[in-house]
Amino acid sequence: MEAQPLLTPYQMGRFQLSHRYPRTPGIWLKEHVEAWKPIVDAVHAKGGIFFCQIWHSGHASDYSYQPNGQAPISSTDKRITLEVGEEGEPLNYPTPRKLASEEIPQIVNDFRLAARNAIDAGFDGIEVHAANGYLIEQFLKDGVNDRTDIYGGSLKNRTRFCLEIIQAIIDEIGSDQVGVRLSPYLDIYQCSDSNPDALAVHMAESLSKLNVAYLHPIEPRMVHVDGKLKLPHMLLLMRKAFNGTFIVAGGYDREEGNKVIAEGYTDLVAFGRHFMANPDLPKHFELNAPLNKYDRSTFYLPDPVVGYTDYPFLDA
Ligand SMILES: Cc1cc2nc3c(=O)[nH]c(=O)nc-3n(C[C@H](O)[C@H](O)[C@H](O)COP(=O)(O)O)c2cc1C
Repeated sequence: MEAQPLLTPYQMGRFQLSHRYPRTPGIWLKEHVEAWKPIVDAVHAKGGIFFCQIWHSGHASDYSYQPNGQAPISSTDKRITLEVGEEGEPLNYPTPRKLASEEIPQIVNDFRLAARNAIDAGFDGIEVHAANGYLIEQFLKDGVNDRTDIYGGSLKNRTRFCLEIIQAIIDEIGSDQVGVRLSPYLDIYQCSDSNPDALAVHMAESLSKLNVAYLHPIEPRMVHVDGKLKLPHMLLLMRKAFNGTFIVAGGYDREEGNKVIAEGYTDLVAFGRHFMANPDLPKHFELNAPLNKYDRSTFYLPDPVVGYTDYPFLDA
């Protein structure tokens, strides 16, 4: 895709209105919608299907990204105490503000509006980001959620916020345009749960009832078994409990991906890092061509020229 000369959603979000995180695009303003349109059109022109992932980082943020430097919101008022990141970089998370029960409908409505905006921008659907330690997961998991209102405590209560968001979006745009990302078995930003199987199954059953287009859980990173790296394949319970399209991600390659589809473990496999480094990944897989190696040092950086955009295509 060619670089767009527009003021990008990233720039608007970062410098004007970001409530989230550095270098993330937004879709809450009409200007964002307009900025997304040519990007969506470019993807469609190449035959791509484009879902917009909608998220809220909750307390995985910083005061400096909040309006007036205020505390970011969460299900809790306990801060993340991780002191170093994946690369050993020092981290210092803010103390969040626990959302009041009566504020929650406003957040649910924000998600609904973002979904409407995404459809207005031409996206084929939206994916609710209920994974990876961000706001929705801060409600889902009992290692973080310490609430005593109807959004905390039992599994039914902890999943209420997530399911209210998804229901509101379905009412707005229809269930066939809604996918959901979950990571019950990961522990990112200290978002852990004492019974991930129960959480996984409860969410899969609830989402089946809501008839969402797909469920996209993340396989935990590879583990060592008998000295060999293996995927843990922990998503079977969810697969059985969900009656729509099931997509797995996390550590897959061509062989492992083909294998789990052939075995019926999943309907589809999504690729993250390999796709970043191989813009024509399907072609690589089709020809079983060697993959470009991803360069981790360029992940999450805003450089428009180095990193995401400079990996070679096979033809080149
Ligand atoms: C640089 C980078 C950015 C990512 N951003 C997101 C994101 O915005 N939303 C999300 O759900 N996952 C995100 N992920 C996680 C990937 O979607 C995927 O789950 C993860 O990379 C594991 O899959 P893989 O082994 O195929 O890379 C990101 C991963 C990387 C490396």
